[in-house]
Formats: sequence, structure tokens, C-alpha cells
Amino acid sequence: MADTITIEVFRYRPEDGAEPVYDTFDVPLRQEWRVLDALNHVKDEVDGSLTFRWSCRMGVCGSCGMMVNGVPKLTCSAFLRDFAPGPIRIDPLDGFPVERDLVTVLDDFMGKLSAVTPWMVHKDERSVEQGEYRQSPAELAQFKQYSMCINCTLCYAACPVYTHEDDFLGPAVLALAQRYNLDSRDDGNEQRYPLIWSDSGIWDCTFVGECSVVCPKHVDPSAAIQQAKVQSAQSFFASFLPFGKR
Ligand code: FES
Repeated sequence: MADTITIEVFRYRPEDGAEPVYDTFDVPLRQEWRVLDALNHVKDEVDGSLTFRWSCRMGVCGSCGMMVNGVPKLTCSAFLRDFAPGPIRIDPLDGFPVERDLVTVLDDFMGKLSAVTPWMVHKDERSVEQGEYRQSPAELAQFKQYSMCINCTLCYAACPVYTHEDDFLGPAVLALAQRYNLDSRDDGNEQRYPLIWSDSGIWDCTFVGECSVVCPKHVDPSAAIQQAKVQSAQSFFASFLPFGKR
């Protein structure tokens, strides 16, 4: 294996008013280094102005997502050696405006996330004396995989609908809504349905499925959306019955 590998890094400095360019750096190709280590090497040793997000370095915080050779990846989990002999092209995540260099603007995602009420809603709050909300392992299994999402937005970068439909809520938001709708302790379904069943919700999804392919936590947003489509269709037809209800 060579001693170094070349990375081509997207650079955008809005204060310059210039078009984005790619800067090229040769970085050590160490067996244990990830793409994030290469970026940190550049920032520490070569160009301190390089701007990108990261925090945990262990695939938990979800902040280090970027396009690596055109594929959405957590850069703290993508080994340099897997891209040898290079070069490796590193871009900001597709589908989002760029703030600077590899940092994207997440306002749209954050707004849509909070819009689906991604928290537990209870019609009747239990008192401390009444104890916790209990749930069986089978009930937990209904939604558990959807709760593993770390909001890294890789699924948005992979989704062709999100890129072209400004209103689309997108994979992670819809999966999180489904996570709560499937939770036996939650009573917020009726509150979430109008938005997630709207034209900007599940029915915008064309079932490409790339969201599920790129998810680093093996969440399956595509399955969540198709489940919600079935529920929505059942509700629609049930509404024609004399005593139809969701
Ligand atoms: S730095 Fe936290 S997921 Fe990569």
C-alpha cells in the first residue's frame, strides 16, 4: 500500500464571492485512518481554514456526513484504505445548501423534523404513583429500528425526491414520525397524520430505496414510508364505511 493518498476537497468561501473549487492534498494513508482523520490532518497541519462538522468520531453523533466519491458516508466510519489508490473526492452532502466548504445548512431538515411532533404524546399523563408506561418486547420490536436514526441526513443526500421537491418531508423525518406512530405508548397519531399523509409526506416518495441503502445505522426509512402508505390507504377506504375509523 502506498504511503499517501490524494484527497480532493470541495472548497467554498462565501465571503470571496467566488465559485467553489477543489483543493488537492496528499495525506498519509494509514491503515486505521478514516476520511475524517485525513480532513483533520489537513486542518491541523496544512490549512486551518478548512471547515467541516464532526464531534464523536464513532458513528454516533451523525454530524460528519459528506459525499465521498459521490456516495453519502459518515466520514468517521469510512476508511481511507477502502478508497486506495485514490484520489478521494470529498463534497458536502447533496441536496442541501452549502454554508462553507463541507458544511451544509440544515434549517430545512430541522424545521421538518420538529413539524412531525417527534416526541411522545399522551392523552392521559400518568402520575408518578401510577408508574412508568409499560411495553412488551413485541410492542418495542414494532418501531425499534426506526429509533436508531442519528439524524445524519445521509438519506436525504441519497434521495432523488428531496433534491427536486422542496416540500418533501424526506426519509428520516417520515421514519421518525412512523417510529412514534407505531409506539404503543404514544397517542399522537391523529396529530401527525395530516402532515405525513399530505402531498409533501409519504405520497411524494417514489420508493427508490436509496435512503435505506446508505443508512449507517441500518434504519429502513423506505419501509417506514411504505408502512405508512398502507395505513393511509386503509384509513381512506375505511372512511367510506358507515362506522369506518382509522
Ligand atoms: S463524528 Fe459523529 S458520527 Fe461521525
